Amino acid sequence: MADSTLSNMAGPISGTGVGLRHCHIQDVLFNNPDIPWFEILTDNHLEPGGPVKHALQTIRQDYVFSFHCVGMSLGGVDPLEINYLKQIKQLGEELDPIFVSDHLSFSTLNGQHYNELLPLPYTEDSLKHICDRILQVQDILNRQILIENPSSYLSYQHSTLDEWDFMNELAKQADCHVLLDVNNIYVSACNHGFDSNKYLSNIDFSRVKEIHLGGYEDRGHYLLDAHNHPISDEVWELFKTTIGQAPEIPCLIEWDNDIPALEVLQQQASIAEDIRQNTMQEALLESA
Ligand SMILES: [Fe+2]
Repeated sequence: MADSTLSNMAGPISGTGVGLRHCHIQDVLFNNPDIPWFEILTDNHLEPGGPVKHALQTIRQDYVFSFHCVGMSLGGVDPLEINYLKQIKQLGEELDPIFVSDHLSFSTLNGQHYNELLPLPYTEDSLKHICDRILQVQDILNRQILIENPSSYLSYQHSTLDEWDFMNELAKQADCHVLLDVNNIYVSACNHGFDSNKYLSNIDFSRVKEIHLGGYEDRGHYLLDAHNHPISDEVWELFKTTIGQAPEIPCLIEWDNDIPALEVLQQQASIAEDIRQNTMQEALLESA
């Protein structure tokens, strides 16, 4: 499927953006901070009208947006929620995002919505199932979407595929793109005991269009993808490897709980950009 008119209207993005949360909207509106782009949590803005929507439309005049969704339940077995998808499409017509993303997960069962991104078994059957649903979503939205690798706390004994192979196949079979969350790789690797670098060396970077960076919480016997801390040294190390594979891919700082001042998020973004620049310079020197 070709990218839609909507995505073609949006300008290209580069550099490291920031997740735009409610508490920072006034700051952005009045101070025009030096941030290349913002990602908004689509599900918070689906209702028509209102002052927040108006503020977003004003901010959109100066910044590129991407949409990050949590409610598609792409891996679920309940029917896709068409009205929800139509609301996302409507919001897209209002705010013209460069990307629309959701997760490799499910969040509904028997009509019940769970406020969680629950993991799937990685089997050929579940791969076909989620690919069929992604294709339906892309038809309804009339655009390719990005699928984010999850952070997870359990795995299924009957899984037959590694997550990186599942992500690669999903992107190929559904002709969609990948949002690679480096923190999620690290969290899941620690929780399940796989090698983060093996994940990165096996992922198909030609499908990766965006990178997420966030902070986890160490709960002692497991890591929680809490988005409430600065990015850890271990995740910055993994990010160096990631950016070495794909130096131009735009990145995003996610911080959703105990949200600090916008300047703190900008500092995290500038660390990411320093790593990007250093990694690219090192690559140039090596090739000279
Ligand atoms: Fe993420």
